[in-house]
Amino acid sequence: MTPKTIAPVPETPPLADRMRQVGLSPTMKGTIEAERLRRAGVDVVDLGAGEPDFPTPAHVVAAAHTALDRQFTKYTSNMGIVELREAVAARYRADYGVEYRPDEVIMTAGGKQALFHAAMALFGAGDEVITHRPGWPTIAEQIRLAGATPVVVTTHFDEGFALTAERLLSAVTPRTRGIVINSPGNPTGALLPEAEARALAAEAARLGLWIVIDLCYERLIYDAVPHNLPRIFGDAMRDRLVLAGSTSKAYAMTGWRCGWLAAAKPVVQAANALQSHQTSNVNSITQHAAVAALTGPQECVADMLAQYQTRRDQARAWLAEEPRFRCGVPQGAFYLFPDITDFLSPDRCRTSLEFTDRLLAEEHVVTTPGEAFDTPGFIRLSYATSLDRLRDGITRLIRFARG
Ligand SMILES: Cc1ncc(COP(=O)(O)O)c(C=O)c1O
Repeated sequence: MTPKTIAPVPETPPLADRMRQVGLSPTMKGTIEAERLRRAGVDVVDLGAGEPDFPTPAHVVAAAHTALDRQFTKYTSNMGIVELREAVAARYRADYGVEYRPDEVIMTAGGKQALFHAAMALFGAGDEVITHRPGWPTIAEQIRLAGATPVVVTTHFDEGFALTAERLLSAVTPRTRGIVINSPGNPTGALLPEAEARALAAEAARLGLWIVIDLCYERLIYDAVPHNLPRIFGDAMRDRLVLAGSTSKAYAMTGWRCGWLAAAKPVVQAANALQSHQTSNVNSITQHAAVAALTGPQECVADMLAQYQTRRDQARAWLAEEPRFRCGVPQGAFYLFPDITDFLSPDRCRTSLEFTDRLLAEEHVVTTPGEAFDTPGFIRLSYATSLDRLRDGITRLIRFARG
């Protein structure tokens, strides 16, 4: 009897083609390894975290308790409860002097989902979409997942990683459909200067491009640098402008998953359709907490900002004890992004990725390699941690770097 032929089991299951391009967000890898070491009892200093170390403000937590007690535990409108969309609109009015109606705002599971909606709703096969490096990797990945091609322009350490209209516009071709800007930027903390925003808005309006702005760090800007991008782009091209925001960083609410997309109604309707087939509404308890965050006292935001600023300045001073770390002054967010090329060599660490891997293995400090932001030769240090931990982490980092 002939044995039945059994099809060999493929070593990897046959996933869809798009998965050839997408991997786990590289900024999450350090966090996972740190967690593994911590569980093994190792004293890890985590300078990798992309989230505030502060607790969520008490009045926000209290609002969530109340929502639970009142049984706000059912589906809400897919767009989010109207009080919350009004609260977002009121923040934009107060902070930027721009008007959005509640039907021009959709609540999303973090700023990340808002940006994903924007990519899916606006970009597709054959389109080029300009963005910038060093940059948060998700932006280019989302553009690719939407079937479009990211065209990534480089900003430079010697210029404070500043984005310029000229640099972004130099990448425009007849296939360009939009530009995605992250300001304040992760990992550099750089801002799109207002004068550059004006020049860019005028030209983008003339060319009929979409402008998507990731404003997830908008409340974390130091030294009161003016940054009214919603107003500047809104005045020039409101119908082609998409704003992505979030409660994650400003209110220490990363785990609650609450963000939003604000744009002209057709874009919001498209995002609503997409979301209605994915996640539906943002968690109902979270929405009530987010109303408290956006409409309640804002001193908590100012307090956290002041502490981040102290940490930024202190961490830069400590890092300067080893002058081969070349580090600029970030204007926003909560990261330092020093150039570490002076420590790279063929006989020790050849790349910044090797540097961060060995730093973790030998000194138990988590940092994120520049490779994660498409910019080898740098490392990202998060100062969203206590001064004590920062001092300890930077001491270990310098010891490791001096080898
Ligand atoms: C630049 C940038 N944009 C957006 C986000 C999204 O944050 P969330 O989805 O928690 O709102 C992050 C998170 O790290 C980020 O760094």
